[in-house]
Amino acid sequence: MAFIITSTAPKSKETVHVDILTPDTAAKKKLNKKVREQVDSLNKQNKGALITLIEEGEIRLIAFCPAKTVELQYECLRKAGHDALEFIKSWQKTGIIISDYASQDHRLALAEGFCLSTYSFNKYFSVKDEKNRKFEVSLPGINKKSIEQLEITIQAVIHARDLVNEPPTVMTALEMAASFQKMGREAGFKTEVLEEKQIEALKMGGIMAVNKGSSVPPTFTIMEYKPAKAVNKKPYVLIGKGVSFDSGGLNIKTQSMELMKSDMGGSAAVAGAMYAVAKAKLPVHVIGLVPATDNRPGPDAIAPGDIINTCDGTSVEILNTDAEGRLILADAISYSLRYKPELIIDLATLTGAAVRAIGTPGIVAMGNIDPKSRERLFTAGHEVHERLVEFPLWDEYGEMIKSSVADIANLGGPLAGAITAGKFLEHFTKGWNWIHLDIAGTAFLEKKESYRGKGGSGSAVRLLFRFFQKISSANGK
Ligand code: BES
Ligand code: ZN
Ligand code: ZN
Repeated sequence: MAFIITSTAPKSKETVHVDILTPDTAAKKKLNKKVREQVDSLNKQNKGALITLIEEGEIRLIAFCPAKTVELQYECLRKAGHDALEFIKSWQKTGIIISDYASQDHRLALAEGFCLSTYSFNKYFSVKDEKNRKFEVSLPGINKKSIEQLEITIQAVIHARDLVNEPPTVMTALEMAASFQKMGREAGFKTEVLEEKQIEALKMGGIMAVNKGSSVPPTFTIMEYKPAKAVNKKPYVLIGKGVSFDSGGLNIKTQSMELMKSDMGGSAAVAGAMYAVAKAKLPVHVIGLVPATDNRPGPDAIAPGDIINTCDGTSVEILNTDAEGRLILADAISYSLRYKPELIIDLATLTGAAVRAIGTPGIVAMGNIDPKSRERLFTAGHEVHERLVEFPLWDEYGEMIKSSVADIANLGGPLAGAITAGKFLEHFTKGWNWIHLDIAGTAFLEKKESYRGKGGSGSAVRLLFRFFQKISSANGK
């Protein structure tokens, strides 16, 4: 980790103080004339900013966040945390002290943005200029537990980012399974890896079909965290799309193939969330499932027109080999039903249509999730700023994936692509409590976006962790 968090006075000398101000606290605080003018003007424009103040030769930073809701203030502070890191790097400083003139949650949000911004995927550079560089964030007076949870959150996000950022022929299905096992040992959850023979024996025809063009065998990883005193009787099941590389298969991609190492972003989110829940020892029973393979053309690869059978016996007409995620998820969803789950959450970089619909700011969600879990998940989304937008699963969309030769087709028409993909998955849930999260827009950022960085973002890890924290503190009710 490229940072340390302390709750006492800073260890390093070269630190900069950061004050947090919201319109309320700014009104009460004594500020010099110039800063007051700046704050008033920012307030009028409803704009957040990191203000530099040089007072008696000492630099101080003021993070001013006028956002209307407290959740948006937190987000403004995460961005201020990112800007503070950029600032101290350029001033050759080594850390920040976040003063206590703000609530604990406001201060933690700034610290979170700061720490997440220290991440870089630099292992393939021959010269690593920032090697061993550690930045300090000091939060005087903040309790140990909150700091621990923050550290866990960030470590889990880093793991997810690393998984996505690894090159595609390094992070194969086999390597993914090995990485999940390693994370399990580190955090304290169990892992079982089903190999090709077992996948075949389970008749997981979706996974085997996608794997046919590959020279690497598929894997199916089962992660489980079951604490002695879980608040839930039936487990929550997370399912992550683990396509280590998506070339499109025979329907080879003509665009953006270089981004497709990120097609296991769903599995990274699941492993990251499992890591956080286990490491924090939350009293929730959670299972994570990851079907993994790459999707490539090859002499044996499935072809458009093929008909395959998923493990529940459904026949699927393959109309496009690039709609592969839903095939492997179908098997995983069917497998998950044996647990009689409290709720199934699947996460997948499933469709370009989801990206076109809402871009990188949010996650496309759909399903029949029960109202209480829905409220928790959507609220968690606002709190950690990984917001969900719900799309409908109306019957009409089901008509679009009807096949004339099989039970269902793996492709809808040109319209509503994110929904027809969701509708396909719904078929395999057999009415169980479920929500599908399409993270195609958020899992991998082509341009740097503040503390979310560039490349693998660790999308949905903080969302899921916050969701399970809520369940833990509500005693499962
Ligand atoms: N992995 C892609 C979806 C994707 C697109 C993820 C952009 C991240 C960024 C998925 O397997 C895919 O290829 N989907 C096709 C579906 C189509 C063939 C129905 C798509 O979205 O174009
Ligand atoms: Zn695809
Ligand atoms: Zn894909």
